[in-house]
Amino acid sequence: MNVLLLGSGGREHTLAWKMAQSPLLNQLFIAPGNAGTASLGTNLAVGVTDFEAIRKVVMDHAIALVVVGPEAPLVSGLHDFFLADPALKHVPVIGPAKAGAELEGSKEFAKEFMQRHHIPTAAYRSFDGTQLEAGQAYLDQIEAPFVLKADGLAAGKGVLILSDRDQAKQELEAMLTQGKFGDAGNKVVIEQFLEGIELSVFVLTDGKSYKILPSAKDYKRIGEGDTGLNTGGMGAISPVPFADEAFLQKVESSIVQPTVEGLQKDGIPYVGFLFIGLMNVDGDPYVIEYNVRMGDPETEVVMPRLKSDLLDMFAATGAGKLGSYELQIDERTAVTVMLVSGGYPGSYPKGKVMHGLDKATDALLFHAGTRQEGDQVLTNGGRVISVTAFGATIEEALATAYVGAEKIEFEGKYCRSDIGFDLKA
Ligand code: AMP
Ligand code: GLY
Repeated sequence: MNVLLLGSGGREHTLAWKMAQSPLLNQLFIAPGNAGTASLGTNLAVGVTDFEAIRKVVMDHAIALVVVGPEAPLVSGLHDFFLADPALKHVPVIGPAKAGAELEGSKEFAKEFMQRHHIPTAAYRSFDGTQLEAGQAYLDQIEAPFVLKADGLAAGKGVLILSDRDQAKQELEAMLTQGKFGDAGNKVVIEQFLEGIELSVFVLTDGKSYKILPSAKDYKRIGEGDTGLNTGGMGAISPVPFADEAFLQKVESSIVQPTVEGLQKDGIPYVGFLFIGLMNVDGDPYVIEYNVRMGDPETEVVMPRLKSDLLDMFAATGAGKLGSYELQIDERTAVTVMLVSGGYPGSYPKGKVMHGLDKATDALLFHAGTRQEGDQVLTNGGRVISVTAFGATIEEALATAYVGAEKIEFEGKYCRSDIGFDLKA
């Protein structure tokens, strides 16, 4: 079959790499893609939210499956656009329609959903622009640290965790009345702070059945020891050692199952990935957030551990037949280390020539922000390339990944040298 994959990051390069291994694949198109995806299929200069251009690609190239990497097209209604068009509605889209995408698109919607379906999450209240005083009064009643979340999509920056009450009140005001985080902050969820260790669980669902994919932990801060500014993610590890069978059993029964059933009860069809950000609080899982896509860089460790044919799984998902699917997982540990441009997550240069990509032979390289120019690969983003390796242990996998990371060169290259520091035996 011919497949169209939307997106341009490390997640998409990994999904492309995995789908390219399938005997079911005929032609793979990636919009817009990067230098990594260009080696696996045809990159097309089409934006992920340009629905009309996407429609044309589907028609011109007889696309039989669309896989959506990032959340923006889903929250904007790409799947609904397909369903409403007689020429497109037979083409399965991996990624939920707008109603389901609200699980990521609105924190308030997600909290109400969890409350309605008795899914464990932090206690919360939400406030809009007319309720600043009530919100500030609420902050007077609760204990620090204060967790403030902009309701809408804010490129991963919309969550503030503050220890000072007055500062929390000021930030609430800035979000609700001064447009901090733009429209995303027109409503704010204030929630209880959960103390614990985070991990993520990934689910693929056809709306009725689901498969739980390997768990992963990512490292979001730019600095060693989880310090400094938040980034898109500096590395990841799968599986997460403390997510043992007993813990994952709790995740399934108290979170995954009620989530899939809750979507059904609410009449929300859902086809695609569900990424559940969790806090392990004394052995019990609580939902921190839902995302309606795979994580990046978590995909770079989850997908390499999947032995099953991903395209076959997507086809089964699109056909509503995921229930009978047999998932096969590689038992080894996978780690990934992200190489980023100097200055990231602040401003950084682009267009630096990359060397040594052919030398990192024991690792898998997933391009995140790169572009091809002639026979050169140039940096084209903050997160540049993700170096993934396997091992029998976290230490072993990390040793191989860091050898690979050393071999890749570009001006200003930076990576964290302590990925997995909190998980090593
Ligand atoms: P989110 O965008 O919802 O994933 O939040 C960003 C980060 O803030 C999470 O990855 C957590 O580290 C932290 N966080 C969010 N909500 C809470 C909470 N209720 N308690 C503690 N930490 C939180
Ligand atoms: N790595 C976190 C995310 O993809 O949202």
